[in-house]
Amino acid sequence: MVNVDESPSLRERYVPAGWPGMRGKRVVVTGGTRGLGEGVVRLLLAEGAHVATCARRSAGLTALGDSLAGDERARLFTDALDVTEPGRLEDFVTAAAKRFGAVEGRANGRDDMDGLDGLVACVGGSRGGTFEQADGADWAATWELNVGHTARLVRAALPRLRAAGGGSVVLIGSVSGWKPGPPAQYGVAKSALIQLAASLARELGPDRVRVNVVAPGSMLIPGRRWDRMRREDPRAYEAFVGAELPTGAPVTPHEVARTVVFLLSDWATGVSGVHLPVDRAQNAPSPDGY
Ligand SMILES: NC(=O)c1ccc[n+]([C@@H]2O[C@H](COP(=O)([O-])OP(=O)(O)OC[C@H]3O[C@@H](n4cnc5c(N)ncnc54)[C@H](OP(=O)(O)O)[C@@H]3O)[C@@H](O)[C@H]2O)c1
Repeated sequence: MVNVDESPSLRERYVPAGWPGMRGKRVVVTGGTRGLGEGVVRLLLAEGAHVATCARRSAGLTALGDSLAGDERARLFTDALDVTEPGRLEDFVTAAAKRFGAVEGRANGRDDMDGLDGLVACVGGSRGGTFEQADGADWAATWELNVGHTARLVRAALPRLRAAGGGSVVLIGSVSGWKPGPPAQYGVAKSALIQLAASLARELGPDRVRVNVVAPGSMLIPGRRWDRMRREDPRAYEAFVGAELPTGAPVTPHEVARTVVFLLSDWATGVSGVHLPVDRAQNAPSPDGY
């Protein structure tokens, strides 16, 4: 489980007076049961937002809901789906907006009027192994997972963002999207998100919709790649951290989640079209080469 804060005193030290918070904001986050997505969902709920999230496995969604206190649980809407399955993501966005409208008492019989204030396209990953192993289908699947689902999410939500008078969209890129490291199909897809955000920031600016990319560095997530490497091959892990991470430790999912929530908030109304690395000045994305 990703903690919302490393310690209570940290929150007191780092939440400045005047922070507008996220109370009442309606946000859709894809992939919210693990890692960064889970961290963003928990932080948004803690900040008072209504949150809709999805994952393929309902067990993870149930566990997320069960772990929350009553008030936060009441503001969470979940659905089990694969974001690459045609139509499912679009239906999820519609259901989330309707649900938020009903919870807020704004249901008016016209579901097209139910607005959304924010999106986080967090699902991502790579398919097919190395460049040599990956075939055309793997490249297409990697593209769809990272770029296709992101574009379809924004497109499906656009009328809802407009209905809210504008909103904030955060795309989740990667250090692999701007610094070379294998596998190529992943880096290429993540780099496309930089262009997508820059382009949509211009196109949707007149609608007061902001679009930015947050590019995490290697995050230490329980049970995932870097955590497994740390336990199974500590010498290789230490060598990687020593060579590529100048602060001596990888960025945490919570540090990245805080940046995502800042971009979703009204303190970031001047920020759009930005590619923002949150990686503690990491150099190479992985120890696997280049
Ligand atoms: N981990 C890192 O070090 C790192 C570094 C840089 C960038 N990133 C990026 O950060 C984002 C989050 O990565 P992460 O490692 O924190 O999380 P993750 O372990 O990849 O978890 C992804 C979440 O998305 C869900 N998910 C995966 N595929 C899905 C699909 N096809 N449809 C619906 N839900 C799906 C998962 O639940 P189910 O399995 O139940 O579907 C889970 O809730 C990704 O875009 C990744 O590329 C990660």
